[in-house]
Amino acid sequence: MYKRITTNTLQEMKLKNEKISMLTAYDFTFARIVDEANVDVILVGDSASNVIAGNETTLPITLDQMIYHASSVVKAVKRALVVVDLPFGSYQSDPKEALRSAIRIMKESGAHAVKLEGGSEIGESIDRIIKAGIPVMGHLGLTPQSIYKFGTYTVRAREEKEANLLVNNAKFLENIGCFAAVLEKIPSELSKKVTKETNFPIIGIGAGNHVDGQVLVLHDLLGLTHEFNPRFLRRYMDLNKTVKSAIKKYVGDIKSHDFPNKNEIY
Ligand code: KIV
Repeated sequence: MYKRITTNTLQEMKLKNEKISMLTAYDFTFARIVDEANVDVILVGDSASNVIAGNETTLPITLDQMIYHASSVVKAVKRALVVVDLPFGSYQSDPKEALRSAIRIMKESGAHAVKLEGGSEIGESIDRIIKAGIPVMGHLGLTPQSIYKFGTYTVRAREEKEANLLVNNAKFLENIGCFAAVLEKIPSELSKKVTKETNFPIIGIGAGNHVDGQVLVLHDLLGLTHEFNPRFLRRYMDLNKTVKSAIKKYVGDIKSHDFPNKNEIY
């Protein structure tokens, strides 16, 4: 059992063929539960834009909002590696801005690493961030910050041209010094090829079982988000139903004058 997960631990786990678990968290209370459940990597994902802020896409969330979520998560975590998404607009325009954004995340939240969506097209930015001593996780395949370019959330890289580009970009991310990469919603055979042809940890979401680890969005795993039903999602409970029924009971107890009772007053 690892005491504290670092980027080196993930490499060790890959070498030992020990699967890596990764899950999102956005606040102190859930981050503590996720960490105590021995999840290896906690991702403060920009999916906070969807599941916390209620936006349709990940595009609106700001750097300040990501730092707010990340600093709440970091306070709760004793074991996991905490990775934070650089949000849309905080790194695409120029490498200096990308570095400034990554530095703000590390300095103001205390997180351990950042994640950026893209391959060689953002290579200069990734390079600057890594050279400043900040570990970078890559993200290829379905990259939700580019949803308006793709037009849909369907599986990416089914065609040979896009598949080849993805393999080349994964190799590029490894060579430039990323400590790991996420592959989202691509064919299982393609992620198998990437995992075989690279030596850094590959974490999948909707990318099959041949990768080095898996990541899910916490609210999806817990069944809080009923409206989101992709094939890759395994729900481990129906917390939406459980929470709703507890709250309905609370409302009922107030209406029926049952709450508070004589043991619950001063
Ligand atoms: O923002 C997020 O939660 C993510 C995961 C889906 C990988 O990027």
